[in-house]
Amino acid sequence: DASFTGNQGSHGLFGNLKMSGKNCAIFYGSQTGTAEGFANALSKECSQRFGLKTAVVDLNDFGNADLKDVPDDMVAIFVLATYGEGEPTDNAVSFQQYVMSLTEDSVLHDKVLQSLKYVIFGLGNTAYEHYNAFARRVDEAFQKLGAARIGVLGEGNDGGSIEDDFLSWKETMWRELSQALGLQEKEVVYQPLFDIKELESSSTEELLHGKFSDRQNLFNGQGTHFLPIVHARELFHSQQRNCLHLEFDTSGSGIRYETGDHLAIWPANSVQEFNRFISVFGLSNKLKNVINIKAVDAVATKAPFPCPTTYETLIRFCVEIGASVSRRLILSLAPFAPDVESKAILISLGNDPHTFHARFTSKYYNIAQALESVTSLPWVDVPFSLLLESIPRLQPRYYSISSSASVQPKQIAITCVVESVTADNGISLFKGLNTNYLRWMTREMRRAGNDESILLEYPISKTRDRANGFGNSIVQVPAYVRHSNFRLPSKPEQPVVMIGPGTGVAPFRAFIQERAAQAKAGLEVGRTILFYGCRSWGEDFLYRDEWDEMTTDLGDRFTLIVAFSRANEKKTYVQHKLFENASIVGELILKHKANIYVCGDANNMAREVNAVISQIIAEKKGVSLEEGKYAVKAMKTRGAYQEDIW
Ligand code: 2AM
Repeated sequence: DASFTGNQGSHGLFGNLKMSGKNCAIFYGSQTGTAEGFANALSKECSQRFGLKTAVVDLNDFGNADLKDVPDDMVAIFVLATYGEGEPTDNAVSFQQYVMSLTEDSVLHDKVLQSLKYVIFGLGNTAYEHYNAFARRVDEAFQKLGAARIGVLGEGNDGGSIEDDFLSWKETMWRELSQALGLQEKEVVYQPLFDIKELESSSTEELLHGKFSDRQNLFNGQGTHFLPIVHARELFHSQQRNCLHLEFDTSGSGIRYETGDHLAIWPANSVQEFNRFISVFGLSNKLKNVINIKAVDAVATKAPFPCPTTYETLIRFCVEIGASVSRRLILSLAPFAPDVESKAILISLGNDPHTFHARFTSKYYNIAQALESVTSLPWVDVPFSLLLESIPRLQPRYYSISSSASVQPKQIAITCVVESVTADNGISLFKGLNTNYLRWMTREMRRAGNDESILLEYPISKTRDRANGFGNSIVQVPAYVRHSNFRLPSKPEQPVVMIGPGTGVAPFRAFIQERAAQAKAGLEVGRTILFYGCRSWGEDFLYRDEWDEMTTDLGDRFTLIVAFSRANEKKTYVQHKLFENASIVGELILKHKANIYVCGDANNMAREVNAVISQIIAEKKGVSLEEGKYAVKAMKTRGAYQEDIW
């Protein structure tokens, strides 16, 4: 293992860094890879532009390192994403505990971190209540402990343009950093982070096309398994939009889940975008060449991809080639443009956020679409390493599980709307990668064509010897369960009020399935109310024909209240229905200690629902709105108000 970890040897993390000549440690707390990408970008600039000797460290590897040991001539950079309700990302949980323990241990005068010089950038989303809470918490602790921050605490808002926030923060930060450390700026010459060697391998067969075993290697840790899809059906009654109900069989995989968990699914790039990418970068002839990838600076960069591999595997399964192109990427490709005109265009677009937005971002252009729109010449001079360094890693997509673990322990259901954005003129701008891939596979299952060419082109595997509903072929998807805190009350008699418009209904289908089974088993089950919202009865009412049967055993303890937003002139949303039912909702919360659950859109719905519940509580109690809000906060803290929002 080439990376630095805080549990290595007697010198500790900072001793090891110093011995390898590093004077800049960049730590990241990342969930979906954005913070990690920013950390890598900072590292590159630190070394190439300012001559610092950098190491990028996953906060998971902080181990039992101690910031009191940071050498005087070292600067520490923190790139910290906030996740969920103001929490650190999974890889930064123990780092947060460490920082908090420092503040608890030290008396106010005890400036234990006074030798620490640090830079900090937080990633958050203003749609969430605790905006950038983790970065702010760490920064505040560092300040208290006497550390010296260089530049301001940078804050990126994922609800706006996090990249623009990052780029503008960075430029000011560099000025302050070079001043503080007395650095001289150098002219930047591109130096690849990865050394890519083509191998002459005779066993190439196994590596091609992302075959089963090869692809399995890509999902390190996490417990990914290829799960067969055993049921699939369309839930919308619409020509334009699709919503899939899918069920995956976990038998024999060892995968376990609890009601309220998420299923993470690894997507693969679409064939169309794959073809565009290889044609734009002139890679068609070497797709199947077997390559080995090594970090040039083995101590500074983590070995990023399981090797040996092929260009094809990397482009299909490892990098997010369909992601919206970023200004950073456009600027970094400029030196490798096929002609001077294209180079000038890239530089000008990369430096002009407005035109960049109009020309690329607003149209959801990915890298290949953007370059293709600049020139029809292929971009053959772009180093492959640069693409691997700059294009984000393909990340799993998360879905709230819509089945109950006690009713269907071996089958995991999800409910996913197939995402697509179409321009006014009918041109398709954007297709959600994973949902469209699932839709394609579902169609493929129906066709059950057993066509081997499909096997080669797509990352699915078919098993022939299992009985199932789809002829002899099974479509399998790489997936794992991500545990959540979204849980039914432990006592079934406690009432629940669930609010889930659109696919936000997914976990509530699971909750209701579970409570119905409890009722059937003779347990006392409390009131179970679902506020659901959709456009109209005829178009997108999810599980429209199933609710009655599913809830027979709950009898009149179950109530479904539906808000139709496009059935009449006036829009009706779940929060309006909540307000109409203020009396019963208020009574359930205050008198009967009902739990509230909200699932779905974080940007508007969850916030508006929160406001209405605060108001209902305030009115019912006869107190101020402020106190109503405070009551909701208190409910959140004790787990009586839970959210699964995105
Ligand atoms: P609309 O698209 O007609 O505006 C599921 O997507 C349902 O949620 C739709 O009926 C949608 O209505 C509705 N919806 C949109 N914005 C919402 C909001 N801010 N609060 C609650 N529901 C909303």
